[in-house]
Amino acid sequence: MQHYFIDKDHNESDFFEFNDEVLGLNLCFRSCDSIFSKNQIDDGTRALLNAISKNMTLNGHGLDLGCGLGVIAIALIKRFGVTFDMVDINATAVKLSKENLIKNNVQHSAKAYFSDGFENVTDNFDFIATNPPIKTGKKLLFSLMEGAFNHLKENGTLTLVIRKDHGMESLKKHLISIFGNCEIITRDKGYYILNSIKN
Ligand SMILES: C[S@@+](CC[C@H](N)C(=O)[O-])C[C@H]1O[C@@H](n2cnc3c(N)ncnc32)[C@H](O)[C@@H]1O
Repeated sequence: MQHYFIDKDHNESDFFEFNDEVLGLNLCFRSCDSIFSKNQIDDGTRALLNAISKNMTLNGHGLDLGCGLGVIAIALIKRFGVTFDMVDINATAVKLSKENLIKNNVQHSAKAYFSDGFENVTDNFDFIATNPPIKTGKKLLFSLMEGAFNHLKENGTLTLVIRKDHGMESLKKHLISIFGNCEIITRDKGYYILNSIKN
């Protein structure tokens, strides 16, 4: 089975654009068939952004882990004036994220680059926000959580979205084992927003 995160060759005709709104922002995305949530902002991503916007104040430099089209970083840069690193294992996602930063006039606030998990990530961050790759399996998911802990500064936050029926309870337990804490910030139509603080 070919997962959405496996990259493939594209023709120019495979690419298209869509507009969508989140946090009261009108955003424009260049997209293509092989990318996660290719036609609209994903409901889970939307729930994550709404929860962060309502419940947190972000400052400093963050990481959008598994950035896809760049929705999370772009929306949070516009909402909080923060800066971002954005990484994805899919080279097309990285290319589109770079283009989408320009399309939404925030290219000076973020850099997007290829990385399998944290392998090319050298910075430590004030916050990490992610709609993580659940379909890759628990082993990778859990290792990404450990990577997140190791790449957060003191008092840095990891905030993520997961559906209850996609293993929310076991991920929450795993986060508590790494961070010593994990709070459910909101529940939104089956999507749970989890937040852990490195302290
Ligand atoms: C659920 S999607 C979220 C995409 C985007 N952040 C959004 O909210 O629309 C997960 C993303 O993680 C990426 N991904 C999967 N495995 C990865 C890995 N090992 N390292 C980095 N990114 C990965 C996928 O390519 C995909 O873009």
